[in-house]
Amino acid sequence: MVVQSMPDASPVRWHLAHATWFFETFVLARAVPRYKPFHPAYEALFNSYYETVGKPLPRPRRGTLSRPTVAEVMAWREAVDQRMEDLLAGAPERVAPHLAAIELGLHHEQQHQELVLMDVKHAFSQNPLRPVYAKEPREQPREAPPHDWVPFEGGRVEIGHAGEAFAYDNEGPRHETIVKPFVLATRLVTNEEYLAFMEDDGYARPELWMSDGIDVARREGWDAPLYWFAEGGEWWEYTLAGPRPVRPSEPVCHVSWYEAEAFAAWAGARLPLEAEWEVAAAGLPVEGNFVESGRLHPAVAPPPPRRPALTQVFGDVWEWTESPYVRYPGYLPPDGAFGEYNAKFMCNTWVLRGGCCATPQDHVRATYRNFFGPDRRWPFAGIRLARW
Ligand SMILES: [Fe+2]
Repeated sequence: MVVQSMPDASPVRWHLAHATWFFETFVLARAVPRYKPFHPAYEALFNSYYETVGKPLPRPRRGTLSRPTVAEVMAWREAVDQRMEDLLAGAPERVAPHLAAIELGLHHEQQHQELVLMDVKHAFSQNPLRPVYAKEPREQPREAPPHDWVPFEGGRVEIGHAGEAFAYDNEGPRHETIVKPFVLATRLVTNEEYLAFMEDDGYARPELWMSDGIDVARREGWDAPLYWFAEGGEWWEYTLAGPRPVRPSEPVCHVSWYEAEAFAAWAGARLPLEAEWEVAAAGLPVEGNFVESGRLHPAVAPPPPRRPALTQVFGDVWEWTESPYVRYPGYLPPDGAFGEYNAKFMCNTWVLRGGCCATPQDHVRATYRNFFGPDRRWPFAGIRLARW
């Protein structure tokens, strides 16, 4: 709970404290007159990146905190839970102005639940003992269905969130955009397909790579997805169920945007634009391999319900898109601290869609825009191909 294995990751205890910090800072301190914080130092210690409400402790230093202890953090969580319950049980007109922040706080905590799994996986993978976080459910091995394409007409389409249901600010406003006719792969790229790219010298062929990408790959010595390692002439991977041989039929996971791009170029294809992905996903049920399955690893694609049809759209792995993460036409960041939640990362990051095996199922939707820098490999991210 206290280990921080790299600057991008945080100790589990920090995540637990930070999700609570959100409710204390953005709900209780604003809703309760003369509110007295549980501990005066926690405000700065567990602020992630909200400069409008204080001076956050830099993320790379989160692992240096030997105090407060896990027990103290859990006591804080309980106290804030109790104070939230008291607030919610009180006068409705006292609660009403804060309902939006409470709802945001709940979705925020779900995001951190996924980050906990990402960060634990990274920390455990660094440990020579290779600990097991959770055993995976027993399953019959099966083959991935053959690769196929689904055609879409394109045209003048609408994307983005509209309506009363919750969505993050970055999902709106709903707007028109032009999409050329395109095809999407019926399923995610498998380990077997990615291995063919590796064996064809994919990591050493600059003509397949973005210039920035090959620089990073060379500097970092990438020759396989994160968590893969060669042993006894075989590729293995570290999973939350411990190390095991790479299974050819499972979707490839823990690749960066640069790797996804290079693979797509090698395959004579490209990554989907986020508008294409959303048009294709709109109307599909949000079903798939989410955190609730307990598998915590992407699963082999199911046979398609009809041919050709998209599978694995939601769950399994976040799908890298060709689209930079930028504001939609007409987007204005919310006033105050919540303007910092999503808007200030609209630079040098790329959009991912669909959720993954570590995402709570009711957290994602067709309009959901996740984002990471193009060199990040610790998210559960993979590849779906597209073509014109
Ligand atoms: Fe956060």
